[in-house]
Amino acid sequence: MLSIATLSQRYGFRFNGYNQSPIRLARQLQQLFLRNEHDTVRQYDDCQSSKDWRSWYPPRLHTAKLFCTHSLVINVLRDTFITFLWVLEMNKLAVQSLQWTGKTLKILDQRQLPDTCCYNEYLDAAGVAEAIATMRVRGAPAIGIAAGYGVVLSAYQHYSSNADGWRQRVADDIELLAKSRPTAVNLFTALDQMKKTLTQTDADPSTLLACAEKIHTDDIAANYKMGELGADLLVNTKGILTHCNTGALATGGYGTALGVIRKVHSKQPITIYANETRPWLQGARLTVWELAQEGIPATLIADSAAAWLMKSGKVDWVIVGADRIAANGDTANKIGTYSLAVLAKQHGVKFMVVAPITTIDWTIDNGDKIAIEQRHQNELLPACYLKEGALVSAWNPVFDVTPAELISAIVTERGVILNPSELGVRSLK
Ligand code: MRU
Repeated sequence: MLSIATLSQRYGFRFNGYNQSPIRLARQLQQLFLRNEHDTVRQYDDCQSSKDWRSWYPPRLHTAKLFCTHSLVINVLRDTFITFLWVLEMNKLAVQSLQWTGKTLKILDQRQLPDTCCYNEYLDAAGVAEAIATMRVRGAPAIGIAAGYGVVLSAYQHYSSNADGWRQRVADDIELLAKSRPTAVNLFTALDQMKKTLTQTDADPSTLLACAEKIHTDDIAANYKMGELGADLLVNTKGILTHCNTGALATGGYGTALGVIRKVHSKQPITIYANETRPWLQGARLTVWELAQEGIPATLIADSAAAWLMKSGKVDWVIVGADRIAANGDTANKIGTYSLAVLAKQHGVKFMVVAPITTIDWTIDNGDKIAIEQRHQNELLPACYLKEGALVSAWNPVFDVTPAELISAIVTERGVILNPSELGVRSLK
């Protein structure tokens, strides 16, 4: 009997133990199938005997092997079928930063990636607020969704203990959640929706849960739509540079800018470059990891290499997400986005912002009014400078604002605005 580990040695794919990403493993096995090696199929038979393997890929892939014959027609059918199975597996197993269990919220601790993939479980709004503030969960849409579930946890807690005063207690928790991070408007949009539901006469934990789940599912649907719309702009594009992490980790699933990149990668050959995104390294620790989970190759660059990369002609588009977009199209996003937009203009590279409608702040006319979060200097400074009386300090704004005039396209689920202006952005309302 052969194990997957033995198979991996024989056929030269990487297998890091049974906690390796099933998606990557599925893809590697798919490639083995596509090589049409009878031997492989025989080994696959043996591998059915492994308990772990059986529990991941029960009868569907087992059925797939029936298609393995030499006939050309059957081969084509077999390949299509296996690809279809693989897509099913991918949809089922894609990275999830948030999991609602029915009574608790599980949050993937993004601070520990890529070394450790570990979920923490939360039972109250205070815990969720702390998880947002300390960036266990981050990314504008994901923060909004987490906060929505945080309000549900608050309702569960207070509705049962004190039915009379529960609304006030939940309202207090909404205030607490609102203080967790200042820039991502999705947080406040989600909390406003929850507050509205709370004030309805029939409000109870189940109506609040329905609202939180809708915020979550609407975000995923918006991401898929933006993926399509953004990818349509990228015909003939050969290289893309992205910044920060805007994928499944930063959203309800699939991603904004990374959703467009996923989509375009599925349609045409493309080279993806990811900025490491100092100082928190969302690109180095999260984006390239997330892409690798799905077998999508990516090339990491130091932030300071972006100008030289653009000069080399290897990228046609910079594609980023957003934390808050003003009504005129000015866009707040991860620190370093503005400098990329300036560089893109200099090098004739186009610049795309991908964000759901919930990221547009209709109440502000321009980017000057966006509050920019300043985080602690310990995210930048070596420990030796953190003591009392040190002469070295750090300035650590974690977002910047890119003026609309540097943006070639804003992609939302309601449509694409080319060369954004206030008129264009407001037409989406
Ligand atoms: O500080 P972070 O990691 O929360 O910042 C995230 C970003 O800047 C993302 O680009 C933005 O939220 C868009 S995520 C879809």
